[in-house]
Amino acid sequence: MRILTGIQPSGTPHLGNYFGYFKQNMELLGQEENLLMIVDLHALTTVHSADELRKNCKELIKDFLACGFDPKKGTLFFQSHVPEHTELAWILSCVTPVGLIERAVSYKEKVQQGLESNMGLFSYPVLQAADILVYDADTVPVGRDQKQHIEIARDIAQKFNNRYGDGLLTLPEARIVDEVALVPGTDGKKMSKSYGNVIPMFAEEKVIEKAIMGIVTDSKGVDEPKDPENCIVYQLHSFLLDEKGKEDLAGKYRAGGLGYGDAKKMFFADFMKYFGPMRERRLKLKDKDIEKIIKDGAKKAGKIAGSTMERVRKAVGLV
Ligand code: ADP
Ligand code: TRP
Repeated sequence: MRILTGIQPSGTPHLGNYFGYFKQNMELLGQEENLLMIVDLHALTTVHSADELRKNCKELIKDFLACGFDPKKGTLFFQSHVPEHTELAWILSCVTPVGLIERAVSYKEKVQQGLESNMGLFSYPVLQAADILVYDADTVPVGRDQKQHIEIARDIAQKFNNRYGDGLLTLPEARIVDEVALVPGTDGKKMSKSYGNVIPMFAEEKVIEKAIMGIVTDSKGVDEPKDPENCIVYQLHSFLLDEKGKEDLAGKYRAGGLGYGDAKKMFFADFMKYFGPMRERRLKLKDKDIEKIIKDGAKKAGKIAGSTMERVRKAVGLV
């Protein structure tokens, strides 16, 4: 079984990215064949500064390693280092009905949010289909928002197979990771870079402290009993705790006597403890090691993509 994930290099990772992406994918490493891809070509649709993209890509590789990526157990690579993605994307776009892509909601949402409408943004799902199909991926773990893109990839693969031959491309399955609760942001909305409500794991301590101290709460006084389930500080803190830890903390909220200021300080202390080893690992990373991992990743991914493309070129009549 081959599992493929993709993440955009679009900024500093936060608690939502950790519990919604990194943690579960690092836990899957070694159990199946894992391909982890940094989709830098997709990021060009939204990151328009070369310096910013370069920086994001470098930082994201470090984030993977800090969060526990082990090159012996999986393949980590940049999309742009495997040129077969764009070649396949073109071939796929020649079997993709415009109507199928017009139905994609993420394009409409992005344009509504004020993003520039360009062909890259529009045909984003075709490149994503190529990302997946070029590796014959069986499973693609994604959040709910990406479900439609995986369905589009399946539709495109089916269209390709109908035209050129059964079984040429593997139809991927989305694995919607439901058990991962949506991590709320410091304002209670979904934690997201685009809402400016994040707690970044690898930022300076002061930045993290400020984000945590700024979590929105109600105005209950220190002595009043508090409802942990309805408190964002508790909800965020509980991601870091085991069952017993959660119960103990909830008890303190319910008993009264714990003010929100102190609750936030406790959360901050546990946050630094939880991410401390990852932060240390990140600081010790050497450029040389990172370069080797990227090179090896591109080589391994390129081998798989190359063999798919040989099959595809032959099937469509390119000589
Ligand atoms: P952002 O919304 O900050 O731009 P991305 O869309 O780049 O984050 O998400 C990268 C990964 O992190 C995706 O797999 C996504 O499902 C996950 N993720 C992002 N925010 C959250 C959140 N608040 N809770 C759970 N998972 C999240
Ligand atoms: N569109 C995905 C996102 O925004 C990123 C992505 C690109 C992807 N290609 C992929 C995810 C292939 C899984 C498989 O999160």
